[in-house]
Amino acid sequence: MTEVELGKESNTEEKEDIVTPWDVESANETGVDYEKLIKRFGSSRVDDALIEKLEKIIKKPVHHFIKRGIFFSHRDLHGLLNAYEQGKPFYLYTGRGPSSESMHLGHLVAFIITKWFQEAFNVPLVVQMSDDEKVIWKDLTVEEGIRLTVENARDIIALGFDPEKTFIFSNLCFMGQCPEFYKNIVRIEKCVTYNQVKGIFGFSEADKLGKVGFPAVEAAPALSSTFPFIFGDKKRQVLIPCGIDQDPYFRMLRDVAPRLGYPKPALIHSAFFPALQGAKSKMSASDFNSAIFLTDTADEISMKLNEHAFSSEGNCDADVPYSLLTFFMEDDKELERIRNAYNSGQMSSAEMRKLAIDCLQPFIAQHQEKRKLVTDEVVQQFMTVRKLKC
Ligand code: TYM
Ligand code: TRP
Repeated sequence: MTEVELGKESNTEEKEDIVTPWDVESANETGVDYEKLIKRFGSSRVDDALIEKLEKIIKKPVHHFIKRGIFFSHRDLHGLLNAYEQGKPFYLYTGRGPSSESMHLGHLVAFIITKWFQEAFNVPLVVQMSDDEKVIWKDLTVEEGIRLTVENARDIIALGFDPEKTFIFSNLCFMGQCPEFYKNIVRIEKCVTYNQVKGIFGFSEADKLGKVGFPAVEAAPALSSTFPFIFGDKKRQVLIPCGIDQDPYFRMLRDVAPRLGYPKPALIHSAFFPALQGAKSKMSASDFNSAIFLTDTADEISMKLNEHAFSSEGNCDADVPYSLLTFFMEDDKELERIRNAYNSGQMSSAEMRKLAIDCLQPFIAQHQEKRKLVTDEVVQQFMTVRKLKC
């Protein structure tokens, strides 16, 4: 079986978790079975040996998202690191589909780890804002798509990316600025049949034309020649940190890349930040009460956690406030203390909710302060086609 064929829904009787770029729904209350997903997608587990290798190369501990298994799966990270050790640098690519005015906490996960990789390895980063995707899929005009790109770019920039090493682009605008982007899209489109995209993404005859072509648009930035103003004519391998829902695009590209004379893209995948209602679905921008948005006030955060967050008295593994802490509480010892206290019944779910509120309120407030500093000029700087330091 080639990589494009992996991950298709199998026809076994057993109910499977649904994980596509548009839909995440687990068969069980405990959430997606990530071990099974690794097998179904044909990726590899981020294991102790990989973590040791990362730490040996960068000479410091890995980010807690990696240590705690939030980034649990990868493709070809060993190969990418071996090449790096031999003096071959890589670049980073990630993205965001700007479907709402504000991003939510789940969206930050991939960007936070991307920033960590950028700092740890001192490599350039390209960020795709797939506003074209959202115009095609949602009730959005082209103009509104571009406006949301800029608003979302402010949130991304506020995380502290280095302007000398980071290029953020709107698909709708970049397409007309850089012919190499479209050339690579066509090269990819030439290698993939309708049957293949249908198999990977589940498109049907009734779907809009743009949907069928979009996978090549998300895949193209994983070829370094899409950015001649950054990489010249040098071919560089890419590392793509993303939620595992985005993997199908890159599974498709991994099949095609060698035929185009490129190394296969490497990936590191995160698990989903749960919906407040529980791990059965992911935190999603289309449901206000399922998500903590970066624009939420302190009162909204406590309201959402107190009224909507699913608690599982005495069982950390199914408790939403606890899982929020695993993402955003950096102190390992404190987290361990909380886990033990809750699982042994010494801590109530009201106390657990309070801890999550106390952790998230300052995090979001600080983010909002930093976002205020991101002026139109700063956004313009990140989104200008230019050479990066690399
Ligand atoms: P989007 O905007 O839906 O999501 C942006 C990033 O956030 C991840 N994500 C989550 N991660 C953890 N928990 C969640 N609840 C959660 N919800 C979303 C996504 O996996 C993604 O990494 N088509 C893409 C945009 C895109 C892109 C890319 C993403 C374009 N090029 C390259 C990654 C890599 C989209 O609509 O993502
Ligand atoms: N830093 C790039 C690298 O090591 C070199 C580079 C950056 C470059 N911008 C360029 C080369 C423009 C040619 C043209 O690959």
